[in-house]
Amino acid sequence: MRVVIAGGHGKIALLLERLLAGRGDQAAGLIRNPAQAGDVRQAGAGAVVCDLEAASAADVAVLLSGADAVVFAAGAGPGSGAARKDSVDRAASVLMADAAGRAGVRRFVQVSSMGAGQPPRPGTGEVWAAYITAKTAAEADLRARDLDWTILRPGGLTDAPATGRIRLAAPPVPAGTVPRADVAAVIAALLDNPGTRHQTLELTGGDTPVAAAITSTVRA
Ligand SMILES: NC(=O)c1ccc[n+]([C@@H]2O[C@H](COP(=O)([O-])OP(=O)(O)OC[C@H]3O[C@@H](n4cnc5c(N)ncnc54)[C@H](OP(=O)(O)O)[C@@H]3O)[C@@H](O)[C@H]2O)c1
Repeated sequence: MRVVIAGGHGKIALLLERLLAGRGDQAAGLIRNPAQAGDVRQAGAGAVVCDLEAASAADVAVLLSGADAVVFAAGAGPGSGAARKDSVDRAASVLMADAAGRAGVRRFVQVSSMGAGQPPRPGTGEVWAAYITAKTAAEADLRARDLDWTILRPGGLTDAPATGRIRLAAPPVPAGTVPRADVAAVIAALLDNPGTRHQTLELTGGDTPVAAAITSTVRA
């Protein structure tokens, strides 16, 4: 399988690239900073320089040619302001989905966040509200497209080692944390299971092995 990952030097993306390379899949990570290419290659993926806040959908569609799936794992990240929540967490996802449609790449896994899908709670900070608003809008954009999308909403991310055990279900899942390594394993498994398309899934740490959790979400 050929997988293009937006946000190719992100923490989840690097873990996912290692998993995909380990099972013989080909991954390409889109990065905006060429200095990150070495890390992406070390993770077993190809590195492609593409600033998702500057590229056009036509530009990105060329990069997606021949791919089997797209993973949106980019994000403006901690320390960024409200404007970049919109330009990355929303607009870059819209760009990738637009490009996927143009390139005929139907499978699209979007990393969103628990908390998306509802208006930000009154009294939350401006940046958090912008983040949740951006993720909610990116989800809505993707759901309206004729793509085989899956929206994955992890809880709070940690850098703990993978546990292999998760809670994965349609919302609402109680709030919780999840290691990025388990998120990467779930994305890899979602890519293998197109029967999870057209679902929005929330993810935290839990008791269910990843493979069993994915199987239980596949629609008959
Ligand atoms: N933190 C949490 O607790 C939490 C919870 C749920 C969901 N999430 C979501 O999970 C996703 C991945 O998380 P993570 O921890 O792996 O994120 P991360 O390490 O912050 O990675 C995000 C990546 O996006 C890239 N990016 C930003 N702007 C870009 C642009 N214009 N063009 C290309 N790439 C760009 C960043 O590259 P640069 O190095 O160039 O900035 C970075 O490599 C994010 O969407 C995040 O919102 C986070």
